[in-house]
Amino acid sequence: MPTIHKFDTVIIGAGGAGLMAALHASRSVSTAVVSKLYPTRSHTGAAQGGIAAALANMEPDSWEWHMFDTIKGGDYLVDQDAAEVLARDAIEAVIELEHMGLPFDRTPEGRIEQRRFGGHTANFGERPVMRSCKAADRTGHMILQTLYQQCIKNKVNFYDEFFVADLIMDAGACVGCVAIEIATGEIHIFHAKSVVVASGGFGKIFKVTSNAHTLTGDAVAAVWRRGLPLQDMEFYQFHPTGIYKMGILLSEAARGEGAVLINGKGERFMEHYAPTVKDLAPRDMISQYIQTEIRAGRGVNGSDYVHMDFRPETINRYRSGPGGRVVTAEHISKTLPDITDFVRVYMGIDPLREPVPIQPTAHYAMGGIPTDNDTRVLDANGRAVPGLYAAGECACVSVHGANRLGTNSLVDLVVFGRRGGRAAAEYAKSAAFGSLPAEPHAEVTAELEQLRNASGSERPAQLRAELQTTMTDLVGVFRNEQGMQQALAKIAELKQRYSDVRIDDRGKIFNSELLETFEVGCLLDVAEATAASALRRTESRGGHSREDFPKRSDTNWLKHTLVSRSAGSGAKPTPAGATLNFGDRPVRLGRFEPKERKY
Ligand code: FUM
Repeated sequence: MPTIHKFDTVIIGAGGAGLMAALHASRSVSTAVVSKLYPTRSHTGAAQGGIAAALANMEPDSWEWHMFDTIKGGDYLVDQDAAEVLARDAIEAVIELEHMGLPFDRTPEGRIEQRRFGGHTANFGERPVMRSCKAADRTGHMILQTLYQQCIKNKVNFYDEFFVADLIMDAGACVGCVAIEIATGEIHIFHAKSVVVASGGFGKIFKVTSNAHTLTGDAVAAVWRRGLPLQDMEFYQFHPTGIYKMGILLSEAARGEGAVLINGKGERFMEHYAPTVKDLAPRDMISQYIQTEIRAGRGVNGSDYVHMDFRPETINRYRSGPGGRVVTAEHISKTLPDITDFVRVYMGIDPLREPVPIQPTAHYAMGGIPTDNDTRVLDANGRAVPGLYAAGECACVSVHGANRLGTNSLVDLVVFGRRGGRAAAEYAKSAAFGSLPAEPHAEVTAELEQLRNASGSERPAQLRAELQTTMTDLVGVFRNEQGMQQALAKIAELKQRYSDVRIDDRGKIFNSELLETFEVGCLLDVAEATAASALRRTESRGGHSREDFPKRSDTNWLKHTLVSRSAGSGAKPTPAGATLNFGDRPVRLGRFEPKERKY
């Protein structure tokens, strides 16, 4: 029999959003965090360049400029009231982190130091502004450590290395989740009044990605498998500067410190595409322009990469350092210690002496579980699902629209993590525990037993590799109808083959082969929702760039996409060929009229 735990609020995931939610919920109700990883190994720790907040410590700035940049950067698909919450609350959230002891970099006067990042501008687009608060290029790591310490101090209950495989629903309300204890293989039931999903992204649907191996979209799949919609799944961000072939992130902070992108002809090509902000244009644009350069034969040595050059002599030649200042090797080493090391370790190149081969890397899901501004999960009719909340990358508030600005992810985590924790606790204070169904774990147990004992002919790792290659090749930076039809056919084929898998480890103790197989099923579902939503949207906007529909169409597509499934159980991938249901939701506009984006 499974072990049953009872808490007012249960948080799924221990990254920045999960820990912030846990911290705030635990101030008033009993709170548990259930996490696939040891908390400080969560992917927030890989976030490098900073967290945006209009503190105006370096130069004039305002939350309204930040709000505008977020909306324009998101190609006007952003819900403008959500962007206002983000930009206003960012200031207080960063100061809250500072008061918790986060070791931000400091100005000589002792203020939090800030730097430039793509798409963040002064005075509604006039020039780049220093808005990113940072701890060298380890900002996410510092946030994670700080929040974890605070959660321990606040006596949050942690269930580390517990894999959440399903949500428990009762009469349309969420009353808990089912998890597998990785060390023992035992099933645990978490009975809760409110559940906050904060499980992060799902970049492992792609081959070249900055995401950790663990980002397989399990909890997003769990929500979807319970018949709830996903929103704006076609908008996936490709970060311009991943290490060539490996996808490992080289922070945009490098360009904030003055690094420039150079094509095979030695040209700083962003000068032509975005004359005002150049290499600090938003990520969707830069990734698309890098691919355009490569396709035009202007990759380095005719190959499929360009260079990022952060040698001080190059930065000084272009006067691209912060405020046009002269930049030294010491400055680069001090402000970018991790990424200069990554380049040395993974590429064997000294970035202070040689330019670095880079290519766009799958980085961030703008879409996900739809929520309102208080992180309440919304059903296909826009009604809040009682007891269910979502925050962070797995959620779609929608504050990033069609393209997120760099450093707005860490703000999203803390701003909406905090709101989620508070809202879930408020709900728990007034609600009674819902009743658990007779055997809430039955579907998960059945699926795990079937996978554990199956003696088919397909290897899960092979299916995963084929899925990742398909998504990178056919649903990548540029897409078209034919490619996405092919991708969907391939996903259907992989789903058929998934029902014929075989694994070797039949045990229960640390059976990572079994859990990775379960993850492949989740990846297939999330990839299908992504490709199908992308095929349906016949326009180009932000990170969704269609070769066959190259223009943005506000007349037809200034709206959010909803996609949900109509068939399947709570623990299995959607059956191959099952019909998906689509819907739309209006974008909440406001003071900033949609305009053509120019930088
Ligand atoms: O480039 C970076 O440091 C990434 C930051 C982000 O995704 O917000």
